[in-house]
Order: sequence, then structure tokens, then C-alpha cells
Amino acid sequence: MENWARSPSEDGLSHVNKPLLQAFEGYRSDRPPFWYMRQAGRYLPEYRRIRNEAPDFLTFCYTPKLCVEAALQPLRRYHMDAAILFSDILVVPDALGCRVAFVEGQGPVLEPVRTAAEVAALSVERLEDHLQPVFGAVRQLAQAIPAETALIGFAGAPWTVAVYMVEGRGGTDCETARSWGYRNPDTFGSLIDLLVEATVVHLRRQIENGAEVVQLFDSWAGVLAESQFRSWVIRPTAEIVRRLKADYPEIKIIGFPRSAGVRYLQYVEETGVDGVSIDATVPLNWAARKLQGRCLVQGNLDNQALVVGGDVAEKETLCVLENLAEGPFIFNLGHGILPQTPPENVARVSELIRDRRKSENLGW
Ligand code: CP3
Repeated sequence: MENWARSPSEDGLSHVNKPLLQAFEGYRSDRPPFWYMRQAGRYLPEYRRIRNEAPDFLTFCYTPKLCVEAALQPLRRYHMDAAILFSDILVVPDALGCRVAFVEGQGPVLEPVRTAAEVAALSVERLEDHLQPVFGAVRQLAQAIPAETALIGFAGAPWTVAVYMVEGRGGTDCETARSWGYRNPDTFGSLIDLLVEATVVHLRRQIENGAEVVQLFDSWAGVLAESQFRSWVIRPTAEIVRRLKADYPEIKIIGFPRSAGVRYLQYVEETGVDGVSIDATVPLNWAARKLQGRCLVQGNLDNQALVVGGDVAEKETLCVLENLAEGPFIFNLGHGILPQTPPENVARVSELIRDRRKSENLGW
């Protein structure tokens, strides 16, 4: 972070005009860059309207025109510093041959994978072909966004995708996956290895088509005991980072091991990510002291504070800024925007970030 507190123009880098990418280089600007996890989606009436143009959510995800439109909708309203590809982490199991369905009011349902034979039946061979529409959406989105907006691609991290494949659905305590990891680390490990392979291919193709940053969502990282965290979160993530960086040294990688608690530090030290996204339970001054000296921190407004809005959202936002905006930082939520979030609350918080300079001068 040797560039910290310098401006890009001092280094003759004024052509690097994307604030979100500058933040990774340690450059400081008037206000932090911002975007929101799940910034596209059901809380927006214009998304709900186009959602009906596809018969089901997966078909929506495989229709580039709809994905591009869904990704652009929040940018038109709030002018975030990044667009995120509109897709889902579960297109990867779908592409590997594990059928996925999104059931209205129930979330994702998958054909469970629980034996060595069921793992062996999956194949990374068909992944590239199957996910062509996703890569097409990345390419079109890269062309459609403003020059100062960064493009974020993403994938689920192997552990989290494995949880959905093994459990067959979300909202569990990951019991089946956790017990398989202990009982038979070799066969469970072969599923994780397959997912490492699939994730590398998936992210490579997103990068080739224009993604400048990629985020690994490890939504279920927090349920694992220490030894298992090392095996199923740290090791596969480090491997993905190493392989992507070998091919694309410039790529910026953000990891999101949600609910990892004190292990966020180990994650940062041992995986090689450029940035870490923290959930809303992480104490701000701990994140500033322990994490920010080591990498960029992204987060962590409570998504419920955004639902409540008003003074609550304002106070919580200012608190995050006070603690983290002095170091390498991207403002975001601690988890995705909830469907019941009033869009005007998102507008208000976005204004606050944009006016950070002004608010400091007002002595807030
Ligand atoms: O705007 C964006 O952030 C990009 C799009 C995006 C979606 N899903 C779209 C989506 C991203 C980055 C995701 C990631 C994702 N998907 C995660 C990791 C982040 C997290 O929330 O923990 C996970 C675990 C999933 C799996 C998933 N997809 C679930 C559990 C569900 C059902 C519950 C829910 O929130 O609806 C989905 C469906 C989904 N993914 C929707 C959207 C817009 C809603 C589907 C619809 O419109 O009918």
C-alpha cells in the first residue's frame, strides 16, 4: 500500500480513471468507491418487470440481453463505481451436470451429490459451452458501462457451491456437507477439487471478456471448524487465486468468507486475495487495525439498516466511513440487498457516500 495518500495524477496515471480500481492500488480520493452486493434484483420494480420475460430464473441468467439490462438498472439510478455481472453462483453446478431449479418462494433446489460415483458423473468439460451466454453477457456489459465504472465478475467459492450441491438446497446448517468432509475427506476433497477447476475456468473466461475484478462468494465459510476451514476454504481459495494471478497478474480478487470472524485475518494472510469483503458483525476498528494494513477492505453496512433507512442508515453509514474510509476501502454492505429494501434508502446512502467531502466539511 505504498501509494496510499497519493493521487494517481502525481504518478502520471491520470488515464486510470476508475476509482474502484485506483482503490486497489492504494490511491486515495475524495470519497471511497462504492457498490452493493445484490445491487440488481427484486427490490427494484424495473427488475421485477423484466424478470417476467424469462420463464424461470436460470433461463433469465442464460439470456445475455436480460442479464445486461438487469446489471445496468441499478447503475442508472445510483451511479455506483462498479457494475457486477448479473448471474448466479449456481450456474456452475448446473454447467457441471448437477441439475438446479429455482423454485418460487423456496429458493434453489439441486439434485443432491453425496457419493464418489455422483462426483465422478460431473464434468468440467461441458462448462465452457454451457456458460457461453454468461461470458457473452460479460462482454456486452463491458461495452455498455460508463468509462469510469469497473466491471466485477464473480463465482461462488468451492465450499459454498459444494454446500448447495450436497445439501440440495440452502438454509440448512450444512450438516451433510460438514459430516462428509470429516468422514471421507478424499471423496469430499474430489468434489472441492472439481469446483476449484470449474471456478478457475469460469473466472478466466469472465476476465477474458472484460471483468476487471472478481469476487469469490463464500457465504457458508463461517460454519466450519478450524481444521475444516483450512481444508475447504483457505486451501481451495489460495489455489484459485494462485492460478488466476499466474495468468492475469493485473486481476484484482476480492474474497468474501462470510461470518469468518477472527479468521478473516488468516484468510487474508493465507489466500493472497487483494481485497476482503467483511460481513456486518466484524468490529470496524478491528477491521481497520488488523485487515486494512494487509489488504483492501470492502463492507460492511448491515443490510437491515438499509431496509430501515432514515437516520439509522445514515448513522450506520457514517460510522463505517469514519472507521474505514481512511485506508484502502470500498463501501458496500455486509451481505446482499434484501428484496424488501426501499429503493429510496439506497439512493440516500449513495448520496451520503458521494457527498463525503461535503459532510466532513459540515463537521458530521
Ligand atoms: O446484483 C448482483 O449482486 C449480481 C447477481 C447475483 C445474484 N446472486 C442474483 C440472484 C449474485 C452476485 C448472486 C450470488 C449468490 N447467489 C450467492 C452469494 C451471495 C449471498 O447472497 O450469500 C448465493 C448464496 C446465491 C444462491 C442463490 N441465488 C439463492 C440462495 C437464491 C434464492 C434466495 C434469493 O435471495 O432469492 C438465489 C436467487 C437469486 N440470485 C435472485 C437474484 C436476483 C432472485 C431470483 C429471482 O429474481 O427470482
